[in-house]
Amino acid sequence: MKDFTSKVIRGIKPSGIRKFFDLASTIEGCISLGVGEPDYDTPAHITEAGSRSLIEGNTFYTSNQGMPALRQEIRSWVKKKYGLDYEDNEVLVTVGGSEAIDLAIRACIEPGDEVIIPQPSYVAYPAEVTMVGGIVKTIPLQAKNEFRLTPAELEAAITPKTKAIILNYPNNPTGAIMEKADLEAIVPILIEHDLLVITDEIYSELTYGSNHVSIASFPGMKERCIYVNGFSKAFSMTGWRLGYTLAPASIMKQMIKIHQYVIMCAPTPAQYAALEALRHGQNDVVAMREDYDDRRKFMLGEFKRIGIPCFEPKGAFYLFPYIGNYGKSSEQFCLELLEQEKLIVVPGNAFGDSGEGFIRVSYASAVEELADGIERLERFIKRI
Ligand SMILES: Cc1ncc(COP(=O)(O)O)c(C=O)c1O
Repeated sequence: MKDFTSKVIRGIKPSGIRKFFDLASTIEGCISLGVGEPDYDTPAHITEAGSRSLIEGNTFYTSNQGMPALRQEIRSWVKKKYGLDYEDNEVLVTVGGSEAIDLAIRACIEPGDEVIIPQPSYVAYPAEVTMVGGIVKTIPLQAKNEFRLTPAELEAAITPKTKAIILNYPNNPTGAIMEKADLEAIVPILIEHDLLVITDEIYSELTYGSNHVSIASFPGMKERCIYVNGFSKAFSMTGWRLGYTLAPASIMKQMIKIHQYVIMCAPTPAQYAALEALRHGQNDVVAMREDYDDRRKFMLGEFKRIGIPCFEPKGAFYLFPYIGNYGKSSEQFCLELLEQEKLIVVPGNAFGDSGEGFIRVSYASAVEELADGIERLERFIKRI
């Protein structure tokens, strides 16, 4: 029998993160600082709104685009946060930020288009660009720049075939942010070269020290941005699978078509929960952010104490320490750490070649678990 599967899909590597979790599930007594998932329960009033919606009989499809009340709330939210005015035909409720990223890429990228992905990056971007026949053009970001994208790096990556760039600040896996001045410096280049910007701002609520600035809010940018956000990280709602995207009407029209045919609509109870989150969940976000910040400071202090260099990340819930001095590849380091100390962290090269020499450590865990993890890591590095 012939191989029925697609050559393109066969050519895509499975996520390097999954490999570690699969392995860990075979080892007893593991602790994980590997996951990209908040450890808090979804705030009770949000869960109640979701479950109430079911009991009240809201078990049907909603409009393809999402419930009108939720669309309105999302538009009000971005208006309040960034002064951005989107019309109702420019918003779409999706199955997580994940679906929004997929729609953006599928609606806009054609075979042969180059898409710039600054790396280390979230694992889905290169795979999705490849799936539609786009050409991934990576920019290896530098630890000395705190993994921010510089104008020179951007300029150097652009060719006549470049159609788009995918930005993700605050960033997974580095925890880097781009402040207003950093964004201001790259905006004229994006406009001059007429690039589409897919801006994944899923960690927008998790910044420490300064408020997040959206690149869509700069003059001339809203019309070239596909803005992606969601409820997973800010409201600790990963399993609800709810996100959203905002884009100019002409782009959104194409994204909605894919969503219509492939998904129909985002899950109805999750939409009710999201409505409650946007209307009454701000205090929960603030409380979780303050808690993350305490953990972040604790972990930075601990890395300093045990002598592993780490730049200070100001967003998301990740640290990206440098372990290149131990004479092992990131993957070897993580494998041995797992085998010897039963601690899971993710090798930096899972996020692109430029992540080699680093590990991703998530601090979305209770302080006791973080402390235990550090103890294991310290024992490991003393031994090697
Ligand atoms: C940068 C980034 N974008 C998107 C997602 C997907 O999130 P969602 O749960 O909203 O699909 C994640 C999840 O880890 C992420 O880290």
